[in-house]
Amino acid sequence: MKKNGVRSSKFSFAGAALFFVSIALMIQIAVMLYDYIAQKTDNKPLIALLMLVVIVLLSGACTLIDIIRRRWMIDKPVDRILQATEKIASGDFSVRLEITRPYGKYTEYDVIMENLNTLAAELGKTEVLKTDFISNVSHELKTPLTIIHNYATLLQDDTLDSDSRKKYAKTLSQASKRLSDLITNILKLNKLENQEVKPEYETLHLTEELASSVLQYEEIIETKNLVLECDLDDVWITSSKPLLELVWNNLLSNAVKFTETGGRVEVTLKKEGLDAVVKVSDTGCGISPEKGARIFEKFYQGDTSHSQEGNGLGLALVKRVIDILGGEISVKSEAGKGSTFTVVLRGTANEV
Ligand SMILES: Nc1ncnc2c1ncn2[C@@H]1O[C@H](COP(=O)(O)OP(=O)(O)OP(=O)(O)O)[C@@H](O)[C@H]1O
Ligand SMILES: [Mg+2]
Repeated sequence: MKKNGVRSSKFSFAGAALFFVSIALMIQIAVMLYDYIAQKTDNKPLIALLMLVVIVLLSGACTLIDIIRRRWMIDKPVDRILQATEKIASGDFSVRLEITRPYGKYTEYDVIMENLNTLAAELGKTEVLKTDFISNVSHELKTPLTIIHNYATLLQDDTLDSDSRKKYAKTLSQASKRLSDLITNILKLNKLENQEVKPEYETLHLTEELASSVLQYEEIIETKNLVLECDLDDVWITSSKPLLELVWNNLLSNAVKFTETGGRVEVTLKKEGLDAVVKVSDTGCGISPEKGARIFEKFYQGDTSHSQEGNGLGLALVKRVIDILGGEISVKSEAGKGSTFTVVLRGTANEV
């Protein structure tokens, strides 16, 4: 019963049949009564008067039947729908209307009720997402703000030695950077989710793009004494440079962040038909299957030991970008052993 994605109701035979039968019956009764009266008397004005009375009574009966029919078939469901819409309008998204007819026999009211149920469920979900988002943002804002407040107070002490002053100033600047990163990421995610970002496609040398992203992590890779292996094929693609940069930077920053000193980070690029396949692997702390199911959610941070270094928005951004660019991202990981993130950019690879 779906026409172009919109479910239509079935024509109500019962309602039409009831209307037809009652009209036919009334006309039949009127004809029979006319015959009966005409046999009893020749008085035309009396016959006309009696027929007027009969027609008024029969029309009254028809109206009564119609009122009862409307009461059961129209007014009752409309009342239920009205009450439900009033509840939804006042913010109660828990309303669900019970539909008694089986699926294939829906009337238009049943279809409206089902659509209202879906609407209320969707609004309920959005409400939960909204309140979760607000509480997550508030929490993420509060931590660096508390640090800024505390250290700014400490810095006001005139007797503070210069080493402590430098240390506190550094903490202040880190906390403010964290705040600014959080706000930048929220704004980016918001733009991506609201389809405000229209990717500008261009021909890219993906090999070079990946290499330059990796170079940005050179310093931290050296500091953490990580082994870096890159196996990059020569691949040209048609895609969006700034959006892809966001993907590589987030995956590389995670690989470096979640891998302990002396570990290994590997980046590979392969062309598979028209697809470009990038893998970022590490020998870091890994992700358990339960955490793995949630890592692409906004603000989710499975590894609490690094929760100070980020807000859990990186992979949510990555996922959104990959969706926009028409690709896939997957993760294979084992807690304690490491992780491999695989990005497949579908149909982007150019013939060299
Ligand atoms: N390479 C990885 N190894 C182990 N765990 C990872 C890895 N990448 C992601 N995770 C897990 O997934 C979570 C979400 O990652 P995500 O990049 O979204 O957030 P984040 O890195 O904590 O913060 P942000 O990206 O905002 O700086 C991380 O907190 C971590 O628990
Ligand atoms: Mg991250």
